[in-house]
Amino acid sequence: MSNTLVVFYSYSGTCRRVAQLLASHHGWALGEIRDARPRSGFTGDLRCLLDSLLRRWPAIRYEGPAPADFDAVVIVSPIWAAQMAGPMRTFLAENAGQLRRVAQITVMNATSAANAVSEATRLLQRPPVLTTELLTHDIEDGSATKELLAFGDALASAALLPPSDREAAGAPPGNRPNLPAASV
Ligand SMILES: Cc1cc2nc3c(=O)[nH]c(=O)nc-3n(C[C@H](O)[C@H](O)[C@H](O)COP(=O)(O)O)c2cc1C
Repeated sequence: MSNTLVVFYSYSGTCRRVAQLLASHHGWALGEIRDARPRSGFTGDLRCLLDSLLRRWPAIRYEGPAPADFDAVVIVSPIWAAQMAGPMRTFLAENAGQLRRVAQITVMNATSAANAVSEATRLLQRPPVLTTELLTHDIEDGSATKELLAFGDALASAALLPPSDREAAGAPPGNRPNLPAASV
């Protein structure tokens, strides 16, 4: 699946690294979600927490190619207070109707991405075709790279195309792994 866009939000740089590595490895396009009102320091962290606790939709600016032009969009965002980071919530809410297939990468220190996957499913009105969660320290020491690239390979494979495209690509009919959310 070469017509894929990687869209990321990153507050402290980790998700940016993940998105850049994935996009450059596969030759995929990259788009960035930025805060309309930049955040930093103690008040920035506090706003992150409040965005999660109150499920707020902070105003964003999207910089990148139009998501509607792509067959698949990989979203990459951190966890804040056990929830999807607020700017990605806004992006999904504003673009749900434009997104065809969505794959989700969630980055965190320790806790689960379950809430973020549930929220993406609710906003998109369907589950992501593929999900994975990565830990910050595994990204920093490079041990998550293999898992990240395997995620990209799985998304790129014919197994995640819709049935008609898969049969054209030579895959056997009947196996439809893109319907439920999957994990690698
Ligand atoms: C305000 C705030 C809340 C966070 N809450 C959680 C959390 O609940 N669980 C967790 O595992 N990590 C949490 N983290 C850690 C981030 O998810 C992690 O550092 C991630 O790699 C940040 O990605 P980024 O560098 O792209 O912004 C939190 C970070 C911030 C700033």
